[in-house]
Parts: sequence; C-alpha cells; structure tokens
Amino acid sequence: MSKRIYIFDTTLRDAEQVPGCQLNTIEKIEVARQLERLGVDIIEAGFPISSPGDFNSVVEISKAVTNPIICALTRAVKKDIEVAAEALKYAKRGRIHTGIGTSMYHIKDKLRTTPDEIIRRAIEAVSYARQYVDDVEFYAEDAGRTDNEFLAKVVEAVIKAGATVVNIPDTTGYCLPNEYGEKIAYLMNNVPNVDKAILATHCHNDLGMATANTLAGVQNGARQVEVTINGLGERAGNSALEEVVMAIHCHKNLDFEMGINTKEIITSSRLVSSLMRAPVQLNKAIVGRNAFAHSSGIHQDGVLKNRETYEIIDPETVGVDQSSIVLTARSGRAALKHHLLEINYNPDHDELEAIYQRFLELADKKKDITTRDLEVLIGTENSRQKRGMILESLQVVCGSSTIPTATVQLSFLGDVFTETASGNGPVDAAITAVKNITKRRVHVEEYLVQAMTRGSDDLGKVHMQVSHKGKIYHGFGANTDIITASVESFIDAISKIS
Ligand code: KIV
Ligand code: ZN
Repeated sequence: MSKRIYIFDTTLRDAEQVPGCQLNTIEKIEVARQLERLGVDIIEAGFPISSPGDFNSVVEISKAVTNPIICALTRAVKKDIEVAAEALKYAKRGRIHTGIGTSMYHIKDKLRTTPDEIIRRAIEAVSYARQYVDDVEFYAEDAGRTDNEFLAKVVEAVIKAGATVVNIPDTTGYCLPNEYGEKIAYLMNNVPNVDKAILATHCHNDLGMATANTLAGVQNGARQVEVTINGLGERAGNSALEEVVMAIHCHKNLDFEMGINTKEIITSSRLVSSLMRAPVQLNKAIVGRNAFAHSSGIHQDGVLKNRETYEIIDPETVGVDQSSIVLTARSGRAALKHHLLEINYNPDHDELEAIYQRFLELADKKKDITTRDLEVLIGTENSRQKRGMILESLQVVCGSSTIPTATVQLSFLGDVFTETASGNGPVDAAITAVKNITKRRVHVEEYLVQAMTRGSDDLGKVHMQVSHKGKIYHGFGANTDIITASVESFIDAISKIS
C-alpha cells in the first residue's frame, strides 16, 4: 500500500510573518479557502498570541473551512497555549503546534538554560496542550543544528507526553540533504516510541536545499511535510509546496500518495503572489512564467514531436491553461460572472459592477481577456476599494527631446487634488506629483515591471517597495499602460502607511 504524505501548509503563518507579506483577515480566509480546494491536509492559520489580528484570523479561518485540520502556533508557554486553544474553538479539527529551541544556540544563548530544563518545558507544554485538544504537534526549533542523541531524547519525551506529530525544523536552512535525511533516519531508528507519532519536515531555504531536504526527510520516514505556496517564508523562504508535491507526483516509484488536487497549483500560486505582493521569479520551478516555456528551436522541435522529450510535467496537470482566452469587449456581465465563478470568485452585485467597468476599460485596450487578466482585475479592484485614494487621471508628456512631465489627479475621501511635476522620466515625474499631493516623505526602494503573459498589448504588472520612517511597504498595480500601473502600485504602497 502507498505511504500517505500529509501536506501541512504554513503560508498563513511562516510566510505571512515576513515583512510586506501581511494579509488582513478577509485575504487570509480567501487563501485558506483556496488551500482547501488545493487539498492540503493541515492549514497553519497563525500564531494567536502574537496579535489580536492573528487571533481573529485563526477564529475566522476555523469557521470558513471544514476539511483541513486548522493549526495554531505557540511557544512552550502556558498563556500561548490557552490563547491558541481559545482561537481554535470553532475548528472542526484543531491542532496546537507548540515547541521550544533544542540546539545549543537556543539552549545556551537564547534561552540561557540547560538541556534537562528544555525537556521538562517541552513535556509540560505538550501535556498542557493535550488538556485542550487531542492533536498536538511539537516543534524542536533548530533541530537541523541539534545533536541527534539529544534530539532523540526530546522526541521520545514529547511523544510520551502526548504529541501526535513531532516537527524536526531545519530552522536556519543549514543542513545538506544527506545530513537531514540521516537525522530523520536516526530518529526513526533510535526513538523507541516513534511509531506512536508522525515525524514532520520543516525546511528553510537559506542554502537552496529546502525541497531536497524535505524529500530526503520523507524518503527516510517523515510523513508530514511543512511547506508554503511559492516557497515564501522567513528569509530565503520555506520548502515550496508546488515543488515537493510535483516531485512526489512525478516520481511514482517513491510510492507516496497525497490528497492534493495538482490542477489548483497555479491558481494558488497566483492568488498568494498577488495578495502577498510577492512576485514569482520567472524561472521558478513549477509556477514561474517560464517553467513550461521552450525558447530554443531544438527544444520546440522536440516538444512538437513528443512533449515528453523536454517536458516532465504536462502543464495542464498543475492548472496551466494554455488557451485561456475567455472574454472580449463584447462579453456581457453574465459571461464575466460565469468566468469569475470558474476561478472560484463569487462577487456580489456591486462588486460585479465595479469589476465589469474595469473589465470594459481593459477590453477596450486589449483584445482578448484571459483568466490571468481576470485574476489581476479582481486583485486590483479589491485593493482600490480598500484604499480610498483613487487615481482619477494621469497625463504624461515624455519623449527623447522633452523634459518628462506628469499631471496627476487623485481623489481622497471625496476631495479631488491635482498636481503637475517633472522628473528624469515619466514614472519619476508621476510619482513626484503623487508625493506632492500626499505630502508623504517616502523613498522607492524596489520597482519591478513584468508583462502578464506575452505581447506588447499585454497587461503590465508593477510591484513596488517604498520605505517610510524605516519601514517597508509593498504595492501592486496592473494596467496596459505601465506608467499608470506604476502610479497605482505607488498609491497602493503609500495607502498602507497609517
Ligand atoms: O522554522 C521554524 O523552526 C519554525 C517553527 C516555529 C516551527 O517555523
Ligand atoms: Zn519556519
């Protein structure tokens, strides 16, 4: 019988704690619903003690999704565990994920304690959490750099105390695949009660090894993988769900099975990328724009003769629809609604009207509207509604022998403001005009323009990072006119400065 691998998604916790990737509760529910459609087994929904927003998100996600287990993170601290249990009270199946550092860096330098005391606190936390829920996962933080003998003692003790899952995080992304695999094998062979719990991998990507380490973990006995969409997460990120899932999917000889609907991978990736304002690198495995593009003539020839010559994955398996032109300027509201429902978006009457107006503007400029365009329209329309500051009009004068000048009209809470400014290019001029209106002292730190698919009539996407008083704010805009997209993105970012 195939061995079942449980997919534990921590996009809403490990990735969401990254500066700039924060989501509000409504956005988190949207991601959680998509994760449910994707078929993940466990959703780590947040760290409830960390903020009222995180607490509330765990509550609301518990109400919104039914199939996956909902997990809440805690430190090995009683108050954290009580708050997590309270946040999970609506979950059909709730799990508390508690833990403590086990490497000498954590024991000596961070916690300034002893190995025996770590084991005592670990047992106490797991036993306390078991008073609230039947499903308790323990994490041995920095297990990647923890001595295997000591780690085995910790794992044995927490399983005895009632842990159902024991997570072996490579918190700093330090391990090599053979080292991490051997660590899991060591635990499988040296922890007497290991059959009473599941071992989990949680690999960070600091050396680009996260996916390789995760696979080494499952090949040596781990049965749960902790992953995030697009590999987002602390620093260089976590092991990417799409990579681990497709590696297991392609290598049938591993004899693993999962509950994932791979056709939902691309939609999940795009949703997370746009809500978290985190662009996906072009050559990212599985979900990057070039992941299935063949540019050289030799490759194209091979693929035309037999797809498998150069492709190990049929793009449709992960939900890439290659002929996804869905609408044109002549399409009406009913057709638009039909296609929005197909991408799992059910707008109310007013939302549909707002999206329809934006759709008509776009269809006027771009002949064929694809599913991808619709996804961006929804995202940008939602953030326009939220921010209150609206770009009413933009006019630019630029060219090889003119000083670039922009006139911007912004409305804010019903008042309209107009400014004209010049700059070293049209984007600089337009952004200076917005700065003059809003009087914000901000600096553009990162500015990235990408075409949505291909072709000069395409939607341009702009991701921007601006800094204000030492903090970074992220913005996103999309338009067939990249200057307009840039201004939309700048406004999106500065609207987040409270
Ligand atoms: O990387 C890590 O160690 C973690 C734990 C909190 C599970 O994210
Ligand atoms: Zn982590």
